[in-house]
Amino acid sequence: MELKLVSTTLTVFLLMISVTVTIADYIRPQPRETLQFSWKSNSPSYPQQVHISLAGEKHMRVSWITDDNSSPSVVEYGTSPGRYSSMAEGESTSYNYLFYTSGKIHHIVIGPLEHDTTYFYRCGRQGPEFQLKTPPAQFPVTFAVAGDLGQTGWTKSTLEHIDLCKYDVHLLPGDLSYADYMQHRWDTFGELVQPLASARPWMVTEGNHEKEYIPLLKDGFASYNARWKMPSEESGSTSNLYYSFEVSGVHIIMLGSYADYDKHSDQYNWLKADLLKVDRKKTPWLLVLLHVPWYNSNEAHQGEGDGMMQAMEPLLYAASVDLVLSGHVHAYERSNRVNNRRPDSCGPVHITIGDGGNREGLARRYKNPKPDWSVFREASFGHGELKIANATHAFWSWHRNDDDEPVRSDQVWITSLVNSECLAEKSHEFRKILMAP
Ligand SMILES: *[C@@H]1O[C@H](CO)[C@@H](O)[C@H](O)[C@H]1NC(C)=O
Repeated sequence: MELKLVSTTLTVFLLMISVTVTIADYIRPQPRETLQFSWKSNSPSYPQQVHISLAGEKHMRVSWITDDNSSPSVVEYGTSPGRYSSMAEGESTSYNYLFYTSGKIHHIVIGPLEHDTTYFYRCGRQGPEFQLKTPPAQFPVTFAVAGDLGQTGWTKSTLEHIDLCKYDVHLLPGDLSYADYMQHRWDTFGELVQPLASARPWMVTEGNHEKEYIPLLKDGFASYNARWKMPSEESGSTSNLYYSFEVSGVHIIMLGSYADYDKHSDQYNWLKADLLKVDRKKTPWLLVLLHVPWYNSNEAHQGEGDGMMQAMEPLLYAASVDLVLSGHVHAYERSNRVNNRRPDSCGPVHITIGDGGNREGLARRYKNPKPDWSVFREASFGHGELKIANATHAFWSWHRNDDDEPVRSDQVWITSLVNSECLAEKSHEFRKILMAP
């Protein structure tokens, strides 16, 4: 009896050691609480939730909200602090959602702006002065990437790490505020991201948490579209849910996982037209963002991207897309170049980075064995950095929030397909698919 107890204790002890060893040196953290925001009493025309986005060549859109409906939709700006040599007027909107009425949402396009230049600006002729830096004309250019942000203690940690990296543009593959029908949560999210999003353009696409659809009462994406206006008109799209933009030698397509994507849809036809416009001499890099990953070996959200992948993967392959970034799964995964579920040196690299820090926590369970296209996978909160060095070389790194310290956990040099055989070989196929009615 006594011996058995000793041996059981020993077995448990040995088991604990082996578990500790196989889990490796990093204990993954629990989700963190949603942040509490204190009530601020500013004047009703005080600009809140200021954020900027790219709006066509050499232009930016400045967006903010005021409680006061008479506040003017005007941005004053210039290259020295306190001296505004230019002024732009723009539009405003607002929306109702059940018992909630939004403030006045201002969207003002400013420009033409010089490349790689710091501008000082003020919203609605009052409030504090903000500073933004425009992206460079050419490489090198750096993108910060984080999806599924939310507004928890982990979100704060992720944002602090992004703030430390010298980035030019933030790319967000969907799921911003996790407001989930609670409209004031959109406002607190706007306040949370303002320090970053007022200084560098934030380019976003929609996730499922932006939908907020109520049958018979509310269309989907009403709040998202009103608050996060993206350059869809500027890129020939008829919907804020998908668009494209060009920055510093990179053509970036933001697809909508929650807009129709079949062959007869507007999105599909817009994508074909947009891909035909890409000039790889001008923009050697071709990137795509969308919310629901097509290549995902996590147990979470298995197969959800299959329909869209089936419809659109041939287009991206024919166009020799370099990189596809997605969110949705709360974990990190990087693939080899892949197409049609098989490693393919002419297909894009797929990266899932839905680990910004939302309240739902991490997706820890992976399918085994690991598919042969999957290179690296880890369920931790964190952010990515894409430093595009020149027309052919980019350095990708993923940084997990290791007890609030950013630790570079995965890194890889990616070479673009611009000088590859792929582009030349596929040019015929490309025309055939993209010109098809
Ligand atoms: C592009 O950048 C990579 C990495 O820094 C470098 O090795 C390569 O020589 C560069 N190519 C050109 C054409 O400058």
